[in-house]
Amino acid sequence: MTEIVTSIQALRERLNSHRSRTQSIGFVPTMGSLHAGHMDLIRASKAACDITVASIFVNPMQFGPNEDFDAYPRTLDDDNAKLSAEGADYLFAPTVREMYPNGVNTQVDVPSLANILCGAARPGHFAGVATVVSKLFNIVQPDHAFFGRKDFQQLAVIRQMVQDLLMPLNIVGVPTGRADDGLALSSRNAYLTESERAVAPALFRCLTGARQRILDGATDFAAIQRDVTDALTGNGFRVDYVEVRCAHALSSAGLADRDLVILVAAYLGKARLIDNIELEKP
Ligand code: PAJ
Repeated sequence: MTEIVTSIQALRERLNSHRSRTQSIGFVPTMGSLHAGHMDLIRASKAACDITVASIFVNPMQFGPNEDFDAYPRTLDDDNAKLSAEGADYLFAPTVREMYPNGVNTQVDVPSLANILCGAARPGHFAGVATVVSKLFNIVQPDHAFFGRKDFQQLAVIRQMVQDLLMPLNIVGVPTGRADDGLALSSRNAYLTESERAVAPALFRCLTGARQRILDGATDFAAIQRDVTDALTGNGFRVDYVEVRCAHALSSAGLADRDLVILVAAYLGKARLIDNIELEKP
């Protein structure tokens, strides 16, 4: 059984007792509405650590004024059942008041990574993510924390924050969990209508095709970005960006860069979907 803990103090007491027995602590922060992609993170933590803590907190600070904070799916009972079945030890599910007793005074920001790609369309989003994740790290004090590669920019922001602020933990990036047709699993897929859901796998198909073109020797990244944008638009997406980037700094990819990532963000109906594919140039 996963134990649900809602207060910071109670969680600290539980985890201190594990630490005093030299048990290692793995941490999986989430916003709930858990799916098989989240469960991959729980399994990775269970495999690497003695104790696994998941958190569910729909963090108001990372939602813009016109975003889906109120509509974001909240399914705590189902989530707890999934965590119990997977053998997570603790579910930390605090209230907004518990996490932000004094509102927001101090923020953590990683400007070099936070204002590009998704950050350009979502001002303040990554400062909201970095702030809440650093608060959660201060509460849980994990040895290892697990993040999905699906949110590639988020993972880059967290890695940079941990490095810059000398946080004593290891960040693990877990591969993207996908449906059989390739669509990256996401809590926001719940917003798709049946017909949109049928179209949505085009996102990953386009990324796979673009990756193959680069592996086959294409060097005109701008043309690839244009072609993917056109293909998605033709399928009814409203494209925010399609970008071939250097996988480390997320800077524009040059011909000498070998570790690349192709990132995409696009609306399908009400849902803003993101996905990416990594590649190593031969
Ligand atoms: P959330 O969207 O709930 O995602 C929680 C974690 O699950 C993130 O690390 C995300 O990358 C990972 N994840 C989501 N879908 C995945 C998939 N298909 N395959 C693998 N991993 C996947 O990301 C957040 O919440 C929040 O921003 C958070 C980090 C909790 C801070 O509030």
